[in-house]
Amino acid sequence: MKRRILITAALPYANGKPHLGHGRSTYLPADIFVRYHRMKGNDAIYVCATDEHGTPILLNAEKEGKKPEEYVKCWHDYFEELFKKFGMSFDVFYRTHSPENKKLTIEFFEKAKKNGYIYEQEVKQFYCEKDNKYLPDRYVVGTCPYCNAKDQYSDYCENCGKTFEAGEILDPKCKLCGKRPVIKTAEHFFFLLSALRKKLNDYLDFNEHLQKDVKNYVKHWVKEGLKDWEITRDIEWGFKVPGKKGQVFYVWWDAPIGYISSTIKWAKKKNKDWEKYWKSKKTEIYHFIGKDIIYHHYLFWPAMLMSVKDKYTLPKMIPTRGFLNLEGKKFSKSRGWYISLEKFLKMFPADYLRFYLTMITPLAPSDANFSLEEFKKRINDDLIANFGNLSRRVLYFIEKFFEKKVPESKGLGAEEKGVVKELKKIHEKVTKHLEEVKLMKALQEILKASSVVNTYFQQKEPWKTKDPNCLHVTINLIKGLCIELAPFLPFSMQELWENMGLKGKVKEQDWDSAFELSIKAGHKIKTSKPLYKPVSDEQIGKLRENLKKKEKEKPIDIEEFKKLKIRVGSVQKVEKIDEKLLKLKVLVDKERTIIAGIGEHYKPKELLGKKVIVLINLKPKKIKGVLSEGMLLAAEKKDEIALLTTMKDMPENSEIL
Ligand code: 2FM
Ligand code: ZN
Repeated sequence: MKRRILITAALPYANGKPHLGHGRSTYLPADIFVRYHRMKGNDAIYVCATDEHGTPILLNAEKEGKKPEEYVKCWHDYFEELFKKFGMSFDVFYRTHSPENKKLTIEFFEKAKKNGYIYEQEVKQFYCEKDNKYLPDRYVVGTCPYCNAKDQYSDYCENCGKTFEAGEILDPKCKLCGKRPVIKTAEHFFFLLSALRKKLNDYLDFNEHLQKDVKNYVKHWVKEGLKDWEITRDIEWGFKVPGKKGQVFYVWWDAPIGYISSTIKWAKKKNKDWEKYWKSKKTEIYHFIGKDIIYHHYLFWPAMLMSVKDKYTLPKMIPTRGFLNLEGKKFSKSRGWYISLEKFLKMFPADYLRFYLTMITPLAPSDANFSLEEFKKRINDDLIANFGNLSRRVLYFIEKFFEKKVPESKGLGAEEKGVVKELKKIHEKVTKHLEEVKLMKALQEILKASSVVNTYFQQKEPWKTKDPNCLHVTINLIKGLCIELAPFLPFSMQELWENMGLKGKVKEQDWDSAFELSIKAGHKIKTSKPLYKPVSDEQIGKLRENLKKKEKEKPIDIEEFKKLKIRVGSVQKVEKIDEKLLKLKVLVDKERTIIAGIGEHYKPKELLGKKVIVLINLKPKKIKGVLSEGMLLAAEKKDEIALLTTMKDMPENSEIL
């Protein structure tokens, strides 16, 4: 029987370019999953949208001198375009700043309130008397009261990880005008999460599809006690709270409702009944997320759905995956350690990325590493050498020996029967893994199947034997593998489908009959041209270089600058080592030996007694057998070098600030 399956991927903030990691944890797995279900003949839809509210978005829009409406629309369009290139097959990619979402957000609020799950309470808040507004967390910066780290937001210290109540942060400043804000009280709405504790616990207990490891620590949170949740904010961007001047809903209140409102948008266009997808026990709902938003999806969201008492179906499964590191280090835009999805897709076909990301992404909240070298290896060895070359060779021999026509088979021999049987068996395993959202395992099995065909093909040596049976059966098996790989590699599998001379779209083929030998003798293939180009060392080198360059260009903060110990020194003695190198004795905090490459620019006696600027906490290094204990700072232009000094005479060891 046809199943009804609704699949969502966490809504990306309309607030900047996503990096490779964002694609891995949510959008790609959800896409593979929905493509599989469509091929299974199920009524599966993939819903996504941009998440367009919240303070960071408002702040960035203000920084760019744009209206937030305009700002989020730009990013929405950017994401739409980018996701198309990545092969995301959304049924709808909508927005949270939409009329449908506004209506439903208010409806959720009013129903939850009527049912007693929402109450009002006074909260203390920063208020800027110059700007005449309440200042939410991100609008106030100050010093952490626990570790004294400067420039922290008023609710959380990035340095020591502590969270604060309003008023705790030291030396608070309004981010807009720099003035010290005052504390005022204001009434805000709270969601009574604590009242749903039992129901949430039951939901976790009785749902056997949720990942066990994730479930366990969510249950731990529930056990520790759930804090009620403040769902309104004092900013001017978001959906206005009815009857409350200047207040909007917190972004996390309206964002998940965006899953439903985007479905409504889709249903209207397709003339479908959206309630069937959200309020029927028959529908299976899957929310694909990254591990940073577990709390929101395992607790807040089901609680919201329960609170409105409107027969909403709770999520069947919330596939949760971890973060991605890049070459062993955390992605960080500000530190320049970053490759955007856009950049990668400009350099390589989307299927390469889809393949590699799937290969390193188990169904687990553990983190993975994107290694450029490993990427090259996986693509060249697994995708191209194992599968790509096999499919090309099969087509090539049919082209060469049989004028592009699939040869007649004189009945399958025992070996052929064996291979077909094995591939059908593997197909069952692949299907089972896909059902359980274990996409990496499914792909590994498909590669195993491809190896089985490879071994058989090598043994048969059709390039010598021109064995029609072998070519007849292998093109059929390639067709099966092509169907199996289609959810993972939609672009190249469509190309292969066409190269095989097959009609229609591979994504519309029937999953279960993938390995039926449906290509008959006489069928004409189109071409044997290769599907893939290997990843080259140059491409990887270029990416690496770019990364290093960006890392160097990254701005440093004052703390980093302060790590450099730069001091005034006076030159006591100079000796020539060779044409380029001089050995100096410089008095700074003590007398330091310094080797400097300035021999072509200064004569030893010119330097004696001069004040110079020295970096003294550089790791000492042996140069020409002499330990150098610092570095002279100099200006350089083309072939010209000038040592730095001070404009006024300053004593040795004066600090450079
Ligand atoms: O963490 C995030 O990137 C959020 N924009 C995810 C929202 S998912 C949802 F619930 F809307
Ligand atoms: Zn701190």
